[in-house]
Amino acid sequence: MKILSGIQPSGKLHIGNYFGMMRAMINNMDRSELYAFIVNLHALTSVSDSKALATDTLEAAADFLALGLDPDRCIFWVQSDVPEVTELTWILSTLTPIGLLERCHSYKDKVAKGIAASHGLFSYPVLMAADILLYQADLVPVGKDQKQHLEVARDIAIKFNNHYGETFVVPEPAIEENVATVPGLDGQKMSKSYGNTIGIFLDAKALKKRVMAIVTDAAPVEAPKDPDKCNLYNIFKLFAPADRLKEVHELYVNGGAAYGYLKLELVDLLWEYFRPAREKREKLTADPGYLREVLAKGADKAREKAIVTLDLVHGKVGLKY
Ligand code: ADP
Ligand code: TRP
Repeated sequence: MKILSGIQPSGKLHIGNYFGMMRAMINNMDRSELYAFIVNLHALTSVSDSKALATDTLEAAADFLALGLDPDRCIFWVQSDVPEVTELTWILSTLTPIGLLERCHSYKDKVAKGIAASHGLFSYPVLMAADILLYQADLVPVGKDQKQHLEVARDIAIKFNNHYGETFVVPEPAIEENVATVPGLDGQKMSKSYGNTIGIFLDAKALKKRVMAIVTDAAPVEAPKDPDKCNLYNIFKLFAPADRLKEVHELYVNGGAAYGYLKLELVDLLWEYFRPAREKREKLTADPGYLREVLAKGADKAREKAIVTLDLVHGKVGLKY
């Protein structure tokens, strides 16, 4: 079983990234062959600050390792270090119907949020399909927002297999229902591109500021409230121990939930939750040479796999003459 997923270095990683994707990847290390990578070519569709992209790429790598990804028990690399993926993207794009891409919500949402409507942004799902198919992944852990992109990857694989004969594994998404969409400060999906995130590795002051900025309604403390409709509760429940969560749930339902106190409690919970990772991360970021070495080794391993698939594809489509 091959499990694969990628994350964009398009800003600082946040708790939505952690619960939607990184945690599942880290927990799967011993159950399968694991492929984890930083998708910097995808990030180019929304980031034009070259320094920020380079810095955030290395930082995303440090984050993933600090949170528990062990590069000796998986293949961990930066997307652009395996250039075969862009060649496969081209080949796949020649059989990708435009209509399939036109239906993608993510493209429309991003353009509506002000990201330039470039050709790269439009064909983003084809590059993502190439990422997945190049390594013959069976399972792809992602948040719910990526479900449609997974369907595009499946459609492309099926179309290719039907036309050229069995070539690609048709991948399945793995979406954990209880954390499929972690809400942001404003209650929309938490996303780097919406500016509503809580970063995993904020310093104490910044963390408090973000948590205090979680939007809540104006109901008085004593009023009964629906916990499931409250984004403070929906974030709180990711970090609180079960017995405390039960108490807080009752405060919501029966009245007595004071948002200000719960926010302060959440700051402490978050701080403790990521404490070990934060300490590990400090050591990792102090040694960028080590990070680069890990990523270079990962890219070598990934490339070995990529070359096999691309060679197969060359034969299938008639590029071997
Ligand atoms: P962002 O939307 O912040 O730019 P990415 O697109 O890089 O995040 O997503 C990386 C991974 O994290 C994907 O698998 C995505 O589905 C997941 N993810 C991102 N935001 C959330 C969220 N709010 N809830 C659950 N999963 C999320
Ligand atoms: N599009 C994904 C996102 O924004 C990132 C991504 C790129 C990805 N390639 C992938 C996820 C391959 C899983 C598999 O989150």
